[in-house]
Amino acid sequence: MFELDGRVAVVTGGNGGIGLGMARGLARAGARVVVAARNEAKSKAAVAELERLGAEALAVPLDVTDEASIAALVPAVTARWGRLDILVNNAGINIRKPAHELEPAEWRRVLDTNLTAAFLLARAVYPVMKRQGGGKIINIGSMLSIFGAAFAPAYGASKGGLVQLTKSLASAWARDNIQVNAVLPGWIDTDLTRQARREVPGLDELVLRRTPAGRWGVPDDLAGVAVFLASRASDFVTGAVIPVDGGFSIQL
Ligand code: NAI
Repeated sequence: MFELDGRVAVVTGGNGGIGLGMARGLARAGARVVVAARNEAKSKAAVAELERLGAEALAVPLDVTDEASIAALVPAVTARWGRLDILVNNAGINIRKPAHELEPAEWRRVLDTNLTAAFLLARAVYPVMKRQGGGKIINIGSMLSIFGAAFAPAYGASKGGLVQLTKSLASAWARDNIQVNAVLPGWIDTDLTRQARREVPGLDELVLRRTPAGRWGVPDDLAGVAVFLASRASDFVTGAVIPVDGGFSIQL
């Protein structure tokens, strides 16, 4: 039920952090994994790691804010493996400033990277998934899909929007057997949050105090949900929004 043998999965920003954690899960379940990211050296290292797990893997350069780069992705994947079954929209950035300090260009950069890219990529994979008779799209939201934060107006808007985009795509493509779901990670120890810990005083203590599980998550905590949402096990699950947060979002 959870086996992904022969399936082709694309993970954007999949060469580190949560993306690589999910890529490892998909690889262990038998998928061929495309690491679609900007930093070539990091992508090469990620591919080597996935190959050591026994998977086939491929690095494709991708800048999710560049429409030409997005247009080149699907042909690069189908040229290698002839199909594309799973898309994980994981690439994301945050620029931590209150709204009165955030420049319009910074707002647009965050929205372009976190929200518009997910729309463009979903749109790019739709024809091949429809032709194949189905597919899986997994969008990576955040606790800021639910909560607000003074330092994250653009990030919160993008991640809230991603949940609503998920529901619209899920509704539109359910009859094509394409399931579209969102995962909301809690506080996971990655480059992104290491930077946040430096920039937001008291964040570390807050996370440990507020997370019922009493710890930061690690990228591998996201592997299981990625396999579930990529596999036959979730064929009747669509438009769902699944927190993976050690309980952060359920406790006052
Ligand atoms: P990370 O910084 O390690 O990974 C983000 C990835 O996105 C990097 O590989 C980066 O190069 C890539 N990326 C950024 N802009 C890109 C672009 N224009 N084109 C292609 N790739 C681009 O951070 P992390 O934590 O692994 O984040 C992954 C996702 O999880 C992001 O969407 C983030 O918002 C989300 N998230 C992370 C949480 C955490 O606690 N670490 C919590 C909630 C959500």
